[in-house]
Amino acid sequence: MNVLVTGGAGFIGSHFVLRHKERFPDDFLVVLDKLTYAGKKEYLQPVLDRIRFIHGDITNTLLVADLAKQYAIDAMVNFAAETHVDRSIQNAVPFIHTNILGVQSLIEVCKKSPHILLLNISTDEVYGDLKDGDPPCTVDTVLRPSSPYAATKAAGDLLLLSAIRTFGIHARITRCTNNYGPHQADEKFLPTVIRHAMKDERIPVYREGKNKRDWLYVSDHTDAIELVLTKGKDGQIYLIAADAELQNIDAAKQLLSVLGKPHSLIEFVEDRPGHDWRYALDASSILALDWKPKISFEDGLRRTVEWYRRAGRRSPLPAGEG
Ligand SMILES: NC(=O)c1ccc[n+]([C@@H]2O[C@H](COP(=O)([O-])OP(=O)(O)OC[C@H]3O[C@@H](n4cnc5c(N)ncnc54)[C@H](O)[C@@H]3O)[C@@H](O)[C@H]2O)c1
Repeated sequence: MNVLVTGGAGFIGSHFVLRHKERFPDDFLVVLDKLTYAGKKEYLQPVLDRIRFIHGDITNTLLVADLAKQYAIDAMVNFAAETHVDRSIQNAVPFIHTNILGVQSLIEVCKKSPHILLLNISTDEVYGDLKDGDPPCTVDTVLRPSSPYAATKAAGDLLLLSAIRTFGIHARITRCTNNYGPHQADEKFLPTVIRHAMKDERIPVYREGKNKRDWLYVSDHTDAIELVLTKGKDGQIYLIAADAELQNIDAAKQLLSVLGKPHSLIEFVEDRPGHDWRYALDASSILALDWKPKISFEDGLRRTVEWYRRAGRRSPLPAGEG
């Protein structure tokens, strides 16, 4: 299979590329990435001589169409996105560009090349937040995004669902809960805890850290994506979750314990506007594909910290690790 991986130099995309190349060495992978602040080509270094890397923007439909033709692409896996909620609150325009126009650009290519399967990587944040005690979201739950980031991801998903219906393109969507692991952009929550703690600096945590997140180690997510790519059904949405809900304060404390740093480094700061309280997903669709998470939160934290310690955050993982 020839696969175009968009956003493949980012956090989750780079893990997908490394693991896919290890498991399916005969597949040809083309990575298209704009290399924003979140993308680092060096994360792909272990496989760079065995893939094709293209520096470019997914909204460049001519470029994507040309790559699809030149490399006889069978499937596109779209990780390309603006992903940081705080940045979207500052300025939503780059989010509209990549998360909406970018998805539409990929749809345009699929309309002209209907044999291509498009797998769009989305997020639980499209549902907005839940109150304590609310049941987990299903694929039928109404989308109520709270942040500009989540709203643009929801818009991309809706454009894709409409293209499946109207143009009959082959496409699938995954929506996952919070990921963590090596390669994550510095400004996300757990990398912030690690970076500050390693320098014995105060660690900013919103409000009293009571918000709840369901944490999934990144390779468990990419394993689920592989299953949807190979065994999923067109037109379906797959919800991926670890079922390991934790308050942010407890996640930060566990991480500090792994780092051997005092919990007293945590400092509560003014809350993010519109901050989502809690997410939870009904993962039955992905469990039905024989997926289950392999890495516990404690184990995942150790692996993540080891990466920061061993290699410095700019070094790549050995191929397939994670
Ligand atoms: N990180 C999480 O916890 C999480 C959870 C669920 C879903 N997701 C989704 O998974 C996907 C990947 O997330 P991530 O955390 O790896 O993101 P990331 O921010 O780490 O990486 C995004 C990548 O996309 C690239 N990119 C951005 N705009 C582009 C453009 N216009 N054209 C080409 N490349 C572009 C960036 O350079 C970067 O390499 C996103 O769609 C996100 O919504 C993430």
